[in-house]
Amino acid sequence: MVRRVLIIGSGGREYSLGLAVSRDSRVEKIYFAPGNGATEELGENISISDFQELADFAKKEEIDLTIVGPEKPLVDGVVDIFEKEGLAIFGASKRAAQLEGSKIFMKKFLQKYGIPTARFLETSSLEESYKFIETLTPPIVVKADGLCGGKGVIIAQSVEEAKKTAGDMLSGSLFGDAGKKIIIEEFLDGFELSVFAISDGKNYQILPPAQDHKRLLTGDKGPNTGGMGAYAPTPLATDELMEKIETKIIRPTLEGMAKDGNIFKGVLFAGLMVVNNEPYVLEFNVRFGDPECEILMPLIETPITDILYQATKGKLDEVDIQISKRYSVGVVMASEKYPYSSSQPAEIIVDEIVHSDLAENSHISYAGVSKEEGKLYATGGRVLVAIGLGDTIQEARDRAYMLCGQIHFAGKQFRTDIAYQALKDGEEK
Ligand code: AMP
Ligand code: GLY
Repeated sequence: MVRRVLIIGSGGREYSLGLAVSRDSRVEKIYFAPGNGATEELGENISISDFQELADFAKKEEIDLTIVGPEKPLVDGVVDIFEKEGLAIFGASKRAAQLEGSKIFMKKFLQKYGIPTARFLETSSLEESYKFIETLTPPIVVKADGLCGGKGVIIAQSVEEAKKTAGDMLSGSLFGDAGKKIIIEEFLDGFELSVFAISDGKNYQILPPAQDHKRLLTGDKGPNTGGMGAYAPTPLATDELMEKIETKIIRPTLEGMAKDGNIFKGVLFAGLMVVNNEPYVLEFNVRFGDPECEILMPLIETPITDILYQATKGKLDEVDIQISKRYSVGVVMASEKYPYSSSQPAEIIVDEIVHSDLAENSHISYAGVSKEEGKLYATGGRVLVAIGLGDTIQEARDRAYMLCGQIHFAGKQFRTDIAYQALKDGEEK
């Protein structure tokens, strides 16, 4: 039984994992490494970053389950170190994490197993990139190979811009070493979906399909961000489409990874583009999405500790995973200067929520916050996610926005159209 849990990471995703774990009355203690100003309210923050030291800590503190939030520690091999010590840790191994760590690894893998994705060229040669760019019709997508905190993708509106971007990446001036190898790919024009599968290496469970909102501003304007809001399940993903996603993408990916000796345990996050009702892989991540995790956790009715623990043991088939029939909408509130630069710390005031309907069907998941003398401060970036739950998307969304109205900090910004694709023409699809 899982009594003591360690969560690695510091964002809203990790807060929401902690919140889900804390709902399990069998759990006695949650540690966050390093956590944020609000995770202290759910458990204890520790400041160990070295993986071996963290594994030693987990042993000493008799941690039953470690959950890894972000990609960086996965790509750097934290799971391998914990497993060598015989510790249960939920996340992808270093080898499996290459699916996210290297876009070229991912694209070659997709090609090998015939999994649908955009036509592409990988190269470190400027000349080759120019030649391929000339065969494409703009917009043209140029991606850096390595991890760039979600910012390694440029959508060029002309051949000239694509060439300039390729040059800037290859010279290292745009993303440093992460851009020394690049991928040029055709632009896919459709709608995006985030689909998550929890895998134990053999069995998997697909979670309700979500939609993120990557652009900063209402109306899908402004720069790309880590994600400004999400909702699930989205009616855009019909049963027929989900079936295709499972048989053409999720299953062959998990099977292919196993065949290649890179058994995938953890959460596979397929970032998809749906074009004419056909799904294509834009990217894989080997972790929960942020803010998708914040909106999915409240929809999982089975204790998350049971699901994730059994996944580490290869026994996901022994858990009866119950998913709520409700909808979840999350609105990200970010600091004034996000995503351009850091902002002044600003005190966060949350009005007392007197309406019981709102109090029972909404909550906050905190990310970029610190705590001083009992007060929470927004410290920049994405500060928090306001989450509403409901029997319809409209109801869930109304509650999320009502909650936003109760939250105050200087310079707060948020989109006012989260879930718009599900509510087009003012009615639910
Ligand atoms: P990625 O980091 O690969 O997910 O890309 C970030 C964002 O760029 C995606 O969420 C899409 O909005 C967009 N994008 C990436 N690749 C393509 C593509 N081939 N066609 C259209 N949009 C894309
Ligand atoms: N919300 C997208 C991501 O976590 O990458």
